Amino acid sequence: MTLSPSRLMADSPVKVNFPGQADSAPSVEDQKRMEQSYNQMKRKMSIAQMGKAIKHKIMVLSGKGGVGKSTVATGLALSLAQEGLKVGLLDIDITGPNVPKMMGLDGHRLDVMDGRIHPAKGHLGVKVISMAFLLEDEDTPVIWRGPIKLGAIQQFIGDVEWGNLDYLIIDFPPGTSDEPLTVAQNLPDISGMVIVTTPQDVALLDSRKSLTFAKSLKVDVLGVIENMSGYTIHGKSMPNEDIELFGPGGKTINATADDSGLWSATLDIFKSGGGKKISDDFNVPFLGALPFDPGFVRGGDDGVHRIVSEPEGASALAFADVVSAIKDQVEKSSSIPGLEII
Ligand SMILES: Nc1ncnc2c1ncn2[C@@H]1O[C@H](COP(=O)(O)OP(=O)(O)OP(=O)(O)O)[C@@H](O)[C@H]1O
Ligand SMILES: [Mg+2]
Repeated sequence: MTLSPSRLMADSPVKVNFPGQADSAPSVEDQKRMEQSYNQMKRKMSIAQMGKAIKHKIMVLSGKGGVGKSTVATGLALSLAQEGLKVGLLDIDITGPNVPKMMGLDGHRLDVMDGRIHPAKGHLGVKVISMAFLLEDEDTPVIWRGPIKLGAIQQFIGDVEWGNLDYLIIDFPPGTSDEPLTVAQNLPDISGMVIVTTPQDVALLDSRKSLTFAKSLKVDVLGVIENMSGYTIHGKSMPNEDIELFGPGGKTINATADDSGLWSATLDIFKSGGGKKISDDFNVPFLGALPFDPGFVRGGDDGVHRIVSEPEGASALAFADVVSAIKDQVEKSSSIPGLEII
């Protein structure tokens, strides 16, 4: 069965008869109130259960749009799945529903059975739930009133049949909006958040805001990832020849060819080192840098993420390093209490 947003929000089919009240015919309002509190209780129990069934829950945030959060969130999920772990990916961004596309699930609609939402299976068996599964079609924008959007997030947290997972990765829209706040308030035992930034100053300024926001949410910061960090080019010349290149801003870059004449050099298209600097400034771990790789753009367009199309490529290896750094942090921060669950 597939659902539209309005259908999803109206989905409270449970009739309750409390002991001793079966014959007293409660009013319609009373019945509604009882149904609501029954559903709330059911959701709380299911959320508590989910807290146990999912070992690690990681939020992926950035202060600025377009820095590659969805690419990184999807890449982290796939990289963890490559290691044989059970992984879920929750995409809470209604404005830029890129995750389904990157996971080969474009056009998928929400799958609901017996009142429970069932995730779709993307590449490498990653379980995916996306706000985009609620859209009627790709070209029609949905105007979400705040409470409806936040209600849908609560349902995505409480009513999804994730099963047992090692990791749940949660992708958010940019900025310090209501979405991460709602998740932090409703999802128990969040392992922490990862901040994605690009190396240029404007992105870094926004990332500083995200770090301050994380503190106010009382969610542990696992660290900062610098995305689009450098673009590596390769070439061939005479064996052992010294090569001089003029990179961005006219900066000279030196490389030396190997015995067979092959050389490579990395161009810092958007500067570099900014991610490390803000992590030092805020005293949070630096989780590593991911290269600028046009293959991510192609993968986003044709539905095959870089990690799937080139599992041994430089980008997949960079992701594996970042994943290893995240795992180290997750081990350290296992039980930091988050916000009170309401
Ligand atoms: N490392 C990278 N190298 C090259 N292109 C990249 C890289 N990371 C992301 N991109 C490209 O940048 C664009 C934006 O990426 P993405 O959608 O992941 O960003 P986002 O932060 O999730 O955006 P939004 O703020 O809209 O949610 C996409 O076209 C993506 O393919
Ligand atoms: Mg995104």
